[in-house]
Amino acid sequence: MKIIICKDYAEVSKKAASVVIKEIKKNPELKIGLATGSSPIGLYKNLIEAYQKNKISFKDVISYNLDEYIGIDRSHPQSYYSFMHENLFKHIDIKDDHIHIPDNDISRIDHLADDYNKVLHENQLDIQILGIGTNGHIGFNEPGTPLGNETFIVTLDEQTRMDNSRFFNNNLDEVPKFAITMGIKNIMYSKKILLIASGKEKAKVIHKMIKGKVSKSLPASILQLHPDCTIIIDENAASKLK
Ligand code: F6R
Repeated sequence: MKIIICKDYAEVSKKAASVVIKEIKKNPELKIGLATGSSPIGLYKNLIEAYQKNKISFKDVISYNLDEYIGIDRSHPQSYYSFMHENLFKHIDIKDDHIHIPDNDISRIDHLADDYNKVLHENQLDIQILGIGTNGHIGFNEPGTPLGNETFIVTLDEQTRMDNSRFFNNNLDEVPKFAITMGIKNIMYSKKILLIASGKEKAKVIHKMIKGKVSKSLPASILQLHPDCTIIIDENAASKLK
């Protein structure tokens, strides 16, 4: 694991963007795995800015999102489909048919995981962007998830639903109970991984992920075994490492 400690969230976002920009310049047909949540918003802002300044184009980039809620429609403002369009896709020149977000159509529930998994098998990602949950989840691989899992439908942890209730009017009842997520095995298959985190509330989990034992009780700890994984965090998230 390569660990980069930045002053604050703004610097984390800039640094993460510089890594992604370098990858796109090296390979304009980059296959990139994307995350939602608060952590990558600054990264996406920096990527939009780089596009607007003609530094990079996304016209040949292909994206694959980590996860999506089940139980809300794609058109819901808190679906990850909406999040990605609002925070990145509608501002850049990525092609619609280059965007992959797990389908969450409940009428096809028995096929959703297999369908997305097939896409991931056929397309090894060049780089996967990750955030981390306060319980150590990556994607929606909650504590206890077998580390060999591929794409599956998950029942969300109470902690995750509480953490995410801030996006649902602080009303736990509105937070979906299920999601579809890439499994740990899919995530580990990416050639490169870039995890970003900031804030004091992530300090404990960052410490455990880096210094603790690899265990399914903290899914992100598996990243210790990835051959090319970079962790970019701010001083607050790094505060328990010293
Ligand atoms: C989102 C995702 C989650 C988040 C994690 C951290 O697609 O897969 O694992 O990365 O919950 O969320 P934030 O960044 O909001 O703290």
